[in-house]
Amino acid sequence: MGKFQVKFCILLCWALTSMYSDAQREYFIQRKNLTWVDARNYCQACFKELVTLTPDNSQTLARIINSDHWIGLRKNFNFKNNSGDLTSTVASYTETYFTTHYINDSDSSSPIMNWTQWANGDRLAFQNWYPGWPLPKPSPKPPNKTVCCSCSCTCPARPTTPMTTNAEFTTPNTTTTQSGHNVTSWSHDPTETTEFTPDFTSTDESTTHVTGTKNMTTQRTTPYFSTSAPWTTAEMPLAAQCEKSPVPEPQEPEDEDDSNDKNYIEDSCVAMLSFGPWIEKSCLELLPFICYEDRFMGQVNVTNITFESANLTWMVAPGDISHYRVEVKGQKDNKTWVFDYTGLTHGLSNLTAGTSYSVQVFPVKCKRDLNPENATFYTIPKAVTNLTVSSVEKNSVFLSWEKPEGNVDFYRLTYETNTVKVTTETETVKDLIPGTPYNFTVVSGVNDASKWSYEAHVSACTKPDKVYNLTVSNNTDHSMVVRWDRPVGNFTDIRVVAKNSSGTSLFNATVNHTQQHETVTGLPPATHIFISVTVRVNEGLVGETVNIDSFTTPGPISNLILNTTNDSLTATWLPPNGSALNFTVELSLDQTLVNTKNVSDTNITFINLKNAANYSVAVYAVSGQFKSTAESTYKFTLPNPPSPPKATSISNDSITFAWNAPGNTSTPTYGVKLNSSFWGQSWSNTTSDTKFTFSGLTSGTNYSFSVYTIADGQKSASVGCANFTVPELQEISLSMLCSSSEPLLCDNNTTRTAVLNQLNSTFRNLLDGHIDWRFEQ
Ligand SMILES: *[C@@H]1O[C@H](CO)[C@@H](O)[C@H](O)[C@H]1NC(C)=O
Ligand SMILES: *[C@@H]1O[C@H](CO)[C@@H](O)[C@H](O)[C@H]1NC(C)=O
Ligand SMILES: *[C@@H]1O[C@H](CO)[C@@H](O)[C@H](O)[C@H]1NC(C)=O
Ligand SMILES: *[C@@H]1O[C@H](CO)[C@@H](O)[C@H](O)[C@H]1NC(C)=O
Ligand SMILES: *[C@@H]1O[C@H](CO)[C@@H](O)[C@H](O)[C@H]1NC(C)=O
Ligand SMILES: *[C@@H]1O[C@H](CO)[C@@H](O)[C@H](O)[C@H]1NC(C)=O
Ligand SMILES: *[C@@H]1O[C@H](CO)[C@@H](O)[C@H](O)[C@H]1NC(C)=O
Ligand SMILES: *[C@@H]1O[C@H](CO)[C@@H](O)[C@H](O)[C@H]1NC(C)=O
Ligand SMILES: *[C@@H]1O[C@H](CO)[C@@H](O)[C@H](O)[C@H]1NC(C)=O
Ligand SMILES: *[C@@H]1O[C@H](CO)[C@@H](O)[C@H](O)[C@H]1NC(C)=O
Ligand SMILES: *[C@@H]1O[C@H](CO)[C@@H](O)[C@H](O)[C@H]1NC(C)=O
Ligand SMILES: *[C@@H]1O[C@H](CO)[C@@H](O)[C@H](O)[C@H]1NC(C)=O
Repeated sequence: MGKFQVKFCILLCWALTSMYSDAQREYFIQRKNLTWVDARNYCQACFKELVTLTPDNSQTLARIINSDHWIGLRKNFNFKNNSGDLTSTVASYTETYFTTHYINDSDSSSPIMNWTQWANGDRLAFQNWYPGWPLPKPSPKPPNKTVCCSCSCTCPARPTTPMTTNAEFTTPNTTTTQSGHNVTSWSHDPTETTEFTPDFTSTDESTTHVTGTKNMTTQRTTPYFSTSAPWTTAEMPLAAQCEKSPVPEPQEPEDEDDSNDKNYIEDSCVAMLSFGPWIEKSCLELLPFICYEDRFMGQVNVTNITFESANLTWMVAPGDISHYRVEVKGQKDNKTWVFDYTGLTHGLSNLTAGTSYSVQVFPVKCKRDLNPENATFYTIPKAVTNLTVSSVEKNSVFLSWEKPEGNVDFYRLTYETNTVKVTTETETVKDLIPGTPYNFTVVSGVNDASKWSYEAHVSACTKPDKVYNLTVSNNTDHSMVVRWDRPVGNFTDIRVVAKNSSGTSLFNATVNHTQQHETVTGLPPATHIFISVTVRVNEGLVGETVNIDSFTTPGPISNLILNTTNDSLTATWLPPNGSALNFTVELSLDQTLVNTKNVSDTNITFINLKNAANYSVAVYAVSGQFKSTAESTYKFTLPNPPSPPKATSISNDSITFAWNAPGNTSTPTYGVKLNSSFWGQSWSNTTSDTKFTFSGLTSGTNYSFSVYTIADGQKSASVGCANFTVPELQEISLSMLCSSSEPLLCDNNTTRTAVLNQLNSTFRNLLDGHIDWRFEQ
């Protein structure tokens, strides 16, 4: 044994555990020195078991250790003659295990086959002995030298092994150890091939063929999976059967026999050398050891999640768990709770709504954390508050709300069949149908969409649309017809209102939604009418108002009166009823339109007209684009007067006047007038000549003369002059008697002059301008 020098770890309690995962199996190399049984107990208490080696883990573990370590293999697990440190747990485990497998054994008293299984009960499917191991049981000393030279051995009935029910182990019938000792051969049919499946499945070499024709020369270079199956050792309980045919005892060197007997260990346990192969050792030796444990894959269930609480339930971890450490971490606020629990449930409270929490439950075994059981969950977010409709348009609705207490990752807005993800607290919902009621639902959500808050509801009706292509037609003096194209979407009715320019309502009607026109009646004539059409939903909600203006038609004018001069015409008339009136005046001469004027006054004067011409005037009342019927009449312009007359010859009783004919007047006649207001004389006459003589006149009298043109029965304005007839002077003497109470007053010159002046003045007033007279004294 001295040649297997091993290095031991100096630090006794350096409980360094190295973990090497092999299909979720973890290995823990323990540096403390224990007997094999104590080591196993320790592994069972704090891990699962002493290690079970496989081709996969063997080499890896060999690289890590640097001295001999106990592994989970011993010759006979049922061997009771040990140190007595077996705990009841171990004992019961072992017993239970074997009991199970002995139940079907027909001969329960037959010896147990050694080297059959690992500490954890796995079949011994892989071996990696150091050459020469395991040591065979030394054969009993032959009684004398004359022993049998040939031994005919018969295999007993094969005991049922716990490994398999149909696999057979085949071994070479002859093996030779390095130490030169023959081992008992186990006769076997070499042609039979046995195949067995190792207990692990993570390797590609899942099957291994072992044939009986191979010899037992152990190879150090293939430590993994020795194809030499050493089922060769003291498995032969059949020495007694060989007694009947003794053979001569061969000459054996006594020394070698002694050495084998010395090394042989009755109750052997197996240690792995620092470079991998195995050797037997006394189970009571103190060695470090390797435990293993399967990685615990637990699960935490989170139930009864509310806004602020949840219940955790986790799986029980295998082995002697002292407690579970629960770590809960809020992802938003980094708030962490740590609890130690021995039970398997825990209620969380005081959580924040709508927040992600991660939970880790660490089962603690021998002060060591096992692989944590994990869960993440969101608490339920709270419902939004103050969900309101801020404004409504015909195609859109603007919603706003307030973020609830706690956390929210986003909101989900649903209406009709639509769902919108919103990250702000406001949303404008577009592409809606006008005039339609909508129900909006907003819920708070968390990132993984696992939890939703209670719903918040609000409803709103979009505004109705407006009418299109609004027109007015069929205007009369009291009505008109309004037409439109239907609005898009829904609405209940349409309101039509007519007003005048000062805003006074003249008409007011509501038409149902199927109608597309309305007759506006009861309007005053010739008025500017303003019509507005509004689409409504349920009376309260109105769409955009569409406006149009038009006019009622005017009635005819009345009392058209024309006044003419020789070159102008003035028309006056009375307007019809109405407020929006203009007039179109058409002036025609001989059925030919010569002038058109639009006026707002009720009179018009046309100038520069022809004289003595028959002008006709037609007047229309106009309101907007509408004209009333025409009212018309005609009138001649006056002829031109002749040129101013002159007296061409004067006598004491006659005067001849002459004048020139007016231009532009053909064959006129003339009216002549002569009068003297002093004498009360007047004459009139007509003539076609351009001179006229009045006779029989009073001499010395001032006569005024006027002449005018007569054309087509029209008289022109008069032109005139005045002239005295030649006087025939007659003297008229006046005698005046002066009497005065005042003496000598009549002799006073001054008085006489005053009287004469007064008399002169009296005559002047009476005669001047009429009569040719003189006053002399
Ligand atoms: C284990 O035993 C070896 C010798 O048998 C010794 O060298 C080593 O220090 C021991 N280790 C501990 C941790 O006691
Ligand atoms: C050994 O051999 C002798 C004779 O050679 C015989 O008498 C004796 O019984 C044998 N011993 C045993 C144990 O068989
Ligand atoms: C092994 O046994 C077979 C038959 O049982 C025999 O033919 C063969 O020679 C034996 N081998 C040795 C090495 O004894
Ligand atoms: C081993 O067995 C063979 C034949 O079976 C024999 O020749 C040889 O002497 C034996 N060796 C020892 C050490 O017994
Ligand atoms: C037995 O081993 C020896 C030496 O390793 C080798 O030469 C021989 O071929 C082997 N025999 C069989 C049957 O494998
Ligand atoms: C198994 O090994 C024990 C010693 O550990 C021994 O007493 C027993 O006889 C062996 N059993 C068989 C069947 O070899
Ligand atoms: C829990 O998460 C940790 C990492 O945080 C991981 O190592 C562990 O394997 C997880 N546990 C389970 C059961 O998956
Ligand atoms: C969930 O809550 C119900 C009633 O409050 C309770 O009976 C149940 O035990 C809870 N579940 C868990 C896993 O805590
Ligand atoms: C968790 O829930 C699953 C499915 O409901 C169930 O199968 C499992 O047993 C639960 N685990 C625990 C630890 O309660
Ligand atoms: C939470 O912790 C992470 C790192 O662990 C850090 O980046 C982050 O700022 C922390 N948040 C708060 C709110 O403390
Ligand atoms: C569930 O959690 C609530 C709140 O923390 C707690 O009161 C209750 O006891 C828990 N229920 C269980 C079965 O743990
Ligand atoms: C929850 O918080 C309140 C106030 O912060 C505290 O009084 C109460 O003990 C807490 N409950 C738990 C179970 O931590």
